[in-house]
Amino acid sequence: MKTVIEPFRIKVVEPIRMTTEEERQVFIREAGYNPFRIRAEHVLIDLLTDSGTGAMSTRQWAGIMEGDESYAGARSYFRFEEAVRAVFGHRHVIPTHQGRASERLLCRAVVKPGDVIPGNTHFDTTRANIEDSHAEAVDLPIAEARDPGNLHPFKGNIDLDALEACLRTHGRERVPFVLITVTNNSGGGQPVSMANLRATRALCDRYGVPLVLDAARFAENAYFIKLREDGYADRTPREIAREMFSLSDGALMSMKKDAFGNIGGVVSLNSDEWAERVRTLLILTEGFVTYGGLAGRDLEALAIGLEEVLEEEYLRYRIASTAYVGRHLEACGVPLLKPFGGHAVYLDGRAFCEHISNENLPGWSLSVALYERIGLRACEIGNVMFGRQDPATGTWRWPPLDLVRLAIPRRVYTQSHMDYVIEGIDELYRQRRTVRGLRFVHRPPVLPHFTAVFEPVA
Ligand code: F0G
Repeated sequence: MKTVIEPFRIKVVEPIRMTTEEERQVFIREAGYNPFRIRAEHVLIDLLTDSGTGAMSTRQWAGIMEGDESYAGARSYFRFEEAVRAVFGHRHVIPTHQGRASERLLCRAVVKPGDVIPGNTHFDTTRANIEDSHAEAVDLPIAEARDPGNLHPFKGNIDLDALEACLRTHGRERVPFVLITVTNNSGGGQPVSMANLRATRALCDRYGVPLVLDAARFAENAYFIKLREDGYADRTPREIAREMFSLSDGALMSMKKDAFGNIGGVVSLNSDEWAERVRTLLILTEGFVTYGGLAGRDLEALAIGLEEVLEEEYLRYRIASTAYVGRHLEACGVPLLKPFGGHAVYLDGRAFCEHISNENLPGWSLSVALYERIGLRACEIGNVMFGRQDPATGTWRWPPLDLVRLAIPRRVYTQSHMDYVIEGIDELYRQRRTVRGLRFVHRPPVLPHFTAVFEPVA
């Protein structure tokens, strides 16, 4: 059989509220043309993020009832610790409320002003936390990653020559760790190969610098390795994930992605010294070391999610269903980032809206049009998120790609939801000249996309 079916049945449903285009035009205007500011109930299909939006399984819901809410030493913590350690393998397992809390804790614990953190491409909150520590976040993706049409199977790879040059220049004194994000979200949900991880490990060893993984989507990365890298076809996703983590000294994870959590995160470390510093900070702002700002029931759900996400049937469906969206959009001629990511398909905003200049934010404008026309909420990962203005001259530096991400929540939407999305984007693409450009009315200095306000250009 060719058809890959959803490996689950639906037991609980959540109604979607239908809206008209006229209603949506009002909603988005009232939201300052920022999709982050609209009410979720005014969205038909919400592909803003795959983070915290997944559907939990019956086993996870059963686990919720088992949650031990003891302040210290809860049974749920030990289940969580065991589930994380079984995959990650590090000595210290520290729960946090989400990924950016993990980032903040590690940055506060080990990053000094003037430090440099190289990576394949830091996610926006990671970059913001590094910069908040007065350090520099350096993105060193391979050259192929900059070309949206290049079919390199591991576009998440780090440029090893550039990494070596960075390590040689700054040395272990100024590089507290190298951070590799699997899969590379900001670079298009692209995987990192085991060979690249191994070579990164070797460079880190040579320069005495620890290697940390941002593991938000580690299971999808593991499955891509199985599909695309020689020697892994017969290995299970769990074995591959174990091997990935065995090359690292630690990991940060937003467990709102590949752990099917609605909330949750973890810092996993080998270093006793780092772990002690992180735990001290954790107690200061998050909670005691055996719950880290989560409820015991959350820890149960995450422990179970971490097992389920590595099931081969699930990953086969997950990667195939994302590629389904990409393949059909591609057949309509819609410009896309390729290969398709694990958790998302990325539209090329600049190619889609050729009539809109960088200053008028093609990707963002496209995301607004998608909402108005078809009720689809997507997320720009481009000019608004990463554009930087030179404070002295006022000139803008735009990121290499201006993408619109269709992030697919896990186990939530069916194929007909995706058919609606494909049809709607196809129609909009055929009328793409009608997409209006936007400009900033208010641009907050940090993480502007969440709260910025825009207006249409005449
Ligand atoms: N690292 C990566 C690779 C991420 O994609 C995210 C979040 C984080 C860290 C931060 O985790 O949200 O739990 O604090 N990505 C979400 C997204 C928000 O939509 O891609 P968090």
